[in-house]
Amino acid sequence: AGIVATGAQAQTYPTRPITMIVPFAAGGPTDVIARIVGEHMSRTLGQQIVVENVAGAGGTTGITRGAQSQPDGYTIMMGHMGTHGAAPALYPKLKYDPTRDFAPIGMAGGTPIVIVAKKDFPANDLKTLVDHVKASGEKVNMAHAGVGSVSHASGTFFSSVIKAKPTMVAYRGTGPALNDLMAGTVDFMTDQIVNVAPQIQGGNIKAFAIATPERSPALPDVPTTKEAGLEGYQVSPWNAIFAPKGTPPEIVKKLNDALLKALDDENTKKRLLDLGGVLPTASERTPEGLQKLVESEVARWTPVLKAAGVTAE
Ligand code: MLT
Repeated sequence: AGIVATGAQAQTYPTRPITMIVPFAAGGPTDVIARIVGEHMSRTLGQQIVVENVAGAGGTTGITRGAQSQPDGYTIMMGHMGTHGAAPALYPKLKYDPTRDFAPIGMAGGTPIVIVAKKDFPANDLKTLVDHVKASGEKVNMAHAGVGSVSHASGTFFSSVIKAKPTMVAYRGTGPALNDLMAGTVDFMTDQIVNVAPQIQGGNIKAFAIATPERSPALPDVPTTKEAGLEGYQVSPWNAIFAPKGTPPEIVKKLNDALLKALDDENTKKRLLDLGGVLPTASERTPEGLQKLVESEVARWTPVLKAAGVTAE
């Protein structure tokens, strides 16, 4: 923490552009959500929200920087189920506690996981993909965005559900990973729908199943994992906005108010829904609701990842 903004500053906030740290490379799902929601928030706040991509260590590098920034409302961050759910189980020396070191603002969007593969992957349904991945062992490569990322946590969970051990290939975000998937230089991954939906619709990669109870309206032909015979694989990631701990309540309220207006804006909603995003519920959009979610997600992912024998250090 640092100098806490005075009451007067909180009243006039914001008087200059706001930095939003996205802890992954540009073009990935977290970046996409940040830019869509941030654009409308800028209008309400009357100041530009400038996205800064700070990649590395599965998103924990950027979030650590955000957690240690001045709690004055001028540095916020887009975290998610990885950085604020899985990371503590994977990084014993993590420099932040997702449940204590932030002023939660609210959830920006749900991003269901889709199992995708390169176009010439030798399978056209989930059962054949699973058989091929199990038979190939480490000869098949799974892309992810670093230990602690959503794609890594959901990929590790997938591998443990199907009892396989593919080679895990790390990228600075699933934006760059998707480029290699389209080039065919990496085999498959479990990624957030807002990243892969356009490439699935464009026929540049293959989709096998979506890990949610219902199909996505954005990908009506992609079966659920239950329909495809892997009911045990359900993952519903989310991306959410956080400010550093100690951010004055009036500033948290202004940021939350701008988020609520963005999520009620027809054009913003359409952009998120067209990519397969899921709009947060009313309680998920509140600081209190997000705090509860972070606490439950840290509790949920810790045993799953420990059972899978994964740590980053
Ligand atoms: C990204 O934006 O690249 C993703 O959120 C990375 C991930 O968590 O898999």
